[in-house]
Amino acid sequence: MRPAPNGDAAAEEEPAVATLPPDARIDLARERADSHADEVLDALDRELVGLVPVKTRIRETAALLLIDRVRARFGIDSARPNLHMCFTGSPGTGKTTVAVRLAELLHRLGYLRRGHLVTVTRDDLVGQYVGHTAPKTKEVLKRAMGGVLFIDEAYYLYRAENERDYGQESIEILLQVMENQRDDLVVVLAGYKDRMDSFFASNPGMSSRIAHHIDFPDYTGDELEAIGRLMLAREGYSLAEEAIPVFREYLDRRREQPRFANARSVRNAIERARLRHANRLIATAGEVGLAELTTLTPEDFLASRVFAAP
Ligand SMILES: Nc1ncnc2c1ncn2[C@@H]1O[C@H](COP(=O)(O)OP(=O)(O)O)[C@@H](O)[C@H]1O
Ligand SMILES: [Mg+2]
Repeated sequence: MRPAPNGDAAAEEEPAVATLPPDARIDLARERADSHADEVLDALDRELVGLVPVKTRIRETAALLLIDRVRARFGIDSARPNLHMCFTGSPGTGKTTVAVRLAELLHRLGYLRRGHLVTVTRDDLVGQYVGHTAPKTKEVLKRAMGGVLFIDEAYYLYRAENERDYGQESIEILLQVMENQRDDLVVVLAGYKDRMDSFFASNPGMSSRIAHHIDFPDYTGDELEAIGRLMLAREGYSLAEEAIPVFREYLDRRREQPRFANARSVRNAIERARLRHANRLIATAGEVGLAELTTLTPEDFLASRVFAAP
């Protein structure tokens, strides 16, 4: 991967670039191309179905950082924008996937030194015994420095019913780092919207440090179908003509069942269909060609439990 324009250690040791004179002109298109941020934004557009409001917010943030960089070249000294975020939505709505892209984008725009993503939950941050929480939280923070720390189901850090819960200790360390080291770390809290709202209501300190709230809506039936087709195409499969309505019916039924997890359920469905497809081909033990190897048929879906009579 190419090094960040001004993010790697070597670049930081170089003497500061001379400030531009007030009458200088900057070619923004060129600046933009040089940052290679568009490659990440385009990948986000290409690889993720729907999520238009999310994509728009990420583009807007990229524009802000790019303009900040150009301003800095004129010697304008503005505070670094606060980029701590909260991603709310059901499981499988793309929160983790977008966070990975966001980390890469912030790296390319020179905001983050490393641009990696560290995903954790309460168990990674909070200890079981007195004295264990601070070292655990600090170890995670150390790993995440220079990148994005993604705290999944962040509200589990706070237990309203237990004042002496060790989660509180972790929250306090996080708050401090989010304030004092925000030039080296972006924190993304993720989880269900309603639980996150009550978490913020009980933790105003955390709420005030999060500048961006981005909601990931559940996917519509059409979006789920499009996500499925995208995943299939990427893996070198297609649906037989007669399998298209069956796949759609599968998705419509699956959505109504417990533990439905949006795009993750689509991925799982496809994996099971691939398994049935492979076993179907092996069982026939005849000759196969490209068409048979790449085409999923209705039976690859119909054998699913989802179609069993209620
Ligand atoms: N809009 C989308 N288009 C295509 N694939 C998606 C989309 N949203 C999620 N996925 C895929 O679904 C799976 C689960 O997504 P993930 O980002 O882990 O969701 P979350 O973190 O919200 O639970 C991943 O394999 C991801 O690539
Ligand atoms: Mg996730």
